[in-house]
Amino acid sequence: MSTLPLPASPDFPLYRRVADRIAGLIGSGTFGPGDRIPSVRRMSRQLTVSQATIVEAYRLLEDRGLVEARPQSGFYVRPSAAPTPRLRRTASGRSATKLDIGDLTLRYLRECGRADLVPLGAAVPDSSFLPVAKLNRVLARVVRLRAGTSAAYDPLPGHAKLRAQVARRALEAGCVLEPEEIVTTSGAQQALGLCLRAVTRPGDTVAIESPTYYGLLEVLGALHLRALEVATDPHDGICLEALAEALDRQSVAAVALVPSFGNPLGHCMPDDARRRLVELLAARGVPLVEDDVYGELPFEGSRPKACQAFDRQGLVLLCSSFSKTIAPGFRVGWAAPGRFRDAVERLKFATSVAAPTPTQMAVAEFLADGGFDRHVRRMRRTYRDLVCRISCAVAEAFPAGTRISRPAGGHVLWIELPPGTDSVRLHDQALHEGIGVLPGPLFSAAGRYRNFIRLNCAVPWTPPVADAIRTLGRLAAARG
Ligand SMILES: Cc1ncc(COP(=O)(O)O)c(C=O)c1O
Repeated sequence: MSTLPLPASPDFPLYRRVADRIAGLIGSGTFGPGDRIPSVRRMSRQLTVSQATIVEAYRLLEDRGLVEARPQSGFYVRPSAAPTPRLRRTASGRSATKLDIGDLTLRYLRECGRADLVPLGAAVPDSSFLPVAKLNRVLARVVRLRAGTSAAYDPLPGHAKLRAQVARRALEAGCVLEPEEIVTTSGAQQALGLCLRAVTRPGDTVAIESPTYYGLLEVLGALHLRALEVATDPHDGICLEALAEALDRQSVAAVALVPSFGNPLGHCMPDDARRRLVELLAARGVPLVEDDVYGELPFEGSRPKACQAFDRQGLVLLCSSFSKTIAPGFRVGWAAPGRFRDAVERLKFATSVAAPTPTQMAVAEFLADGGFDRHVRRMRRTYRDLVCRISCAVAEAFPAGTRISRPAGGHVLWIELPPGTDSVRLHDQALHEGIGVLPGPLFSAAGRYRNFIRLNCAVPWTPPVADAIRTLGRLAAARG
């Protein structure tokens, strides 16, 4: 364990935050039953907190029944403190599904936006994690200094300085892109829509992970496409054997994936699987629409390579945005659509003429001034701590038989409730208690995952959030 800075939280004493962190490590299996946890002195060095705080934290973990003190020896994880069971690989759908989501998503999205709810629903970062003040200063400055430009249409394919900055950052993902290859968009959502439209015709089938981001399902529905859900591993992402089998069995016009910290599973495809995926699709001439919106948010190490880094044929259309890292409301996104660039550019013009100029200018300046890396490093730590803390709270509060995802990045948790639990009902009851959460069927073209919920963890850890998780656990125990 490296040094682990703990998030600031004025409402919780330090020893409790330390205890939650260690409980999270036990919950995730880092320390298994019977393992000795680091000595008080070592832990105090690692967390840079006093030994007295560590002693208090260890006592609290003892009270919670997670560890036991063995005289002359140290603290050990109790045999009963087994980690919550892992999520299992999902299954492929038998055939492509015509999307008929109706008004369900709209209803949930409207509810999620309610300011009076504990915001565990929509995957929107709390504004306290975003560089709002600095960004607003930059925005005011660019608008003042370049009033004419900022009020004008931004010529295709988008703001030049932003595209240059995106090209620079793409190098970290292993992609060597010229700024001309990048089209700026109004968020990743528009990028996904434009790219999918460029590579499909109404009635076509698109292969997707299962579960997947409901916004992608909405795009497929709006474009009159069919969705083929493919078996997905909660750790490694889409199962390549299942995908190959699906491609052999039926005609698939495109594949659309979130390979880096996918929403809702938080999985991350290993490099080798990405290479094999790109080769598999290249051999069949099938385009891949790659959504990298969480790619900058790993919990450990450097950001993963994008699938596009392995593409030699221009068949991977990479989409992303700054919604998860800088400001969702700025609506600054982009696509690097490979050989489909002209089509995407034309569609961008057809649907919106241009992306908003002032926010593109502000994000470009923000990226250029060098503060982004520091900001994003802090954000990764914050999300890792929150995901760990919330999954620990879920493990404590939810009924036996609950399974919790172990995301490698991003900021959402996917939770499987015991069989028979109705997450749609649970959602309604939670709403009644002032808590936003998203029910599982939203993440499936075929309405699967009835006993799953997704929790947004990009919220400051406060007593109302802790209470909300206990309430959800109580509702889940009553089977939703
Ligand atoms: C996987 C994924 N893709 C795209 C989006 C939409 O991103 P944007 O706000 O940039 O349109 C989201 C938002 O939650 C998401 O989770």
